[in-house]
Amino acid sequence: MATLQMQKLSLISACVAFPYIVVVSCQYDKFSKLELPQGVTGPGSAAFRGLLFTEGPFTTVTDGRILKWLGPNIGFVDFAYTSPTRTKKLCDRITDEDKGPICGRPLALSFQPITGLLYIADAYFGLLVVGPFGGLATQLAGGFKFTTGVSVDLISGNIYFTVASLTFDLRNTTQPGFKPDSTGRLLRYNPLTKRVSVLLNGLSGGGGPTVSRDGTFVLVPEFYGNRISKYWLVGPKANTAEILLNNVGNPNKVTRAGRFGEFWVALSPGVQPRMPLITPQGVRFDTNGVVLQNVSFAKQFFNRTISVVQEQNGKLYVGSRFTNFIGVYYN
Ligand SMILES: *[C@@H]1O[C@H](CO)[C@@H](O)[C@H](O)[C@H]1NC(C)=O
Ligand SMILES: *[C@@H]1O[C@H](CO)[C@@H](O)[C@H](O)[C@H]1NC(C)=O
Ligand SMILES: *[C@@H]1O[C@H](CO)[C@@H](O)[C@H](O)[C@H]1NC(C)=O
Repeated sequence: MATLQMQKLSLISACVAFPYIVVVSCQYDKFSKLELPQGVTGPGSAAFRGLLFTEGPFTTVTDGRILKWLGPNIGFVDFAYTSPTRTKKLCDRITDEDKGPICGRPLALSFQPITGLLYIADAYFGLLVVGPFGGLATQLAGGFKFTTGVSVDLISGNIYFTVASLTFDLRNTTQPGFKPDSTGRLLRYNPLTKRVSVLLNGLSGGGGPTVSRDGTFVLVPEFYGNRISKYWLVGPKANTAEILLNNVGNPNKVTRAGRFGEFWVALSPGVQPRMPLITPQGVRFDTNGVVLQNVSFAKQFFNRTISVVQEQNGKLYVGSRFTNFIGVYYN
């Protein structure tokens, strides 16, 4: 009887932890693909819009566009772009990352759910914003070498973003002999004063930061530093950072998980320094840095570097700069 009861419960909500069962975790053993349009590559992000009725995922691709998923019958369609010099003729479907300074190369997205504004981190064009109908985004802060991540504070409206380096850009990371440095930064853009402040210096490559839902801290991954720090925004430790997770392989974007106070990070085997970690994976952890779950994506992503693991309605959307699809893992 008890078993039957538990089975029923797990059918209703397979991924929820019940207080009287140890943990019922999603296994994410089912898989499907959201294919990009023919010839398009590099979906490094997966963002959803809206609170109750959600749209997406929206993603950023190598040819400089931000695309929106409209379901399996239509697929991905154009939504926005970042470079004022971009033309569809010149840029659509290019896979050459060296065209980024002309076509744009958006890497990260973060929606402000109340206004519907979409904040964009573009490797070459800095921090931008675009309205609910998309089109050409407006630059808010530029002049950075390599902007990598962005996250909106849902409480204050401030925007947190990262630059990976003051010396190298996205193109350099795949050039022979490339050596990462520790000149990355965490920055804040205040939409009321339009001012940018530097919060952290000396980061070893920027991944995608994320602000906690309650606005008390920002999690800051260091792609080459193999760690995730917690930068306090309020309280006695405000404006200081502490290391939350160490020795995690090339952490890219950190995203908020479905449950309050939990996060996902996209980890990869990496190239340099190469971690003793053989598969791309998603790791779920809590505000104290306790690892709760570890999901391998090796079967579909092999040894590729992944950029994002985004949880939405119990599914995991996995993006990579090195594929032509977003992977969806579910139960
Ligand atoms: C980065 O790559 C660009 C384009 O190939 C090149 O002009 C620049 O010198 C490189 N910078 C470094 C630091 O290697
Ligand atoms: C995830 O699991 C793999 C395989 O069991 C292990 O090698 C790796 O260290 C784990 N990662 C974390 C962050 O716990
Ligand atoms: C990934 O695997 C391919 C072949 O399976 C191999 O050629 C390549 O060197 C591997 N990449 C890394 C970073 O290990």
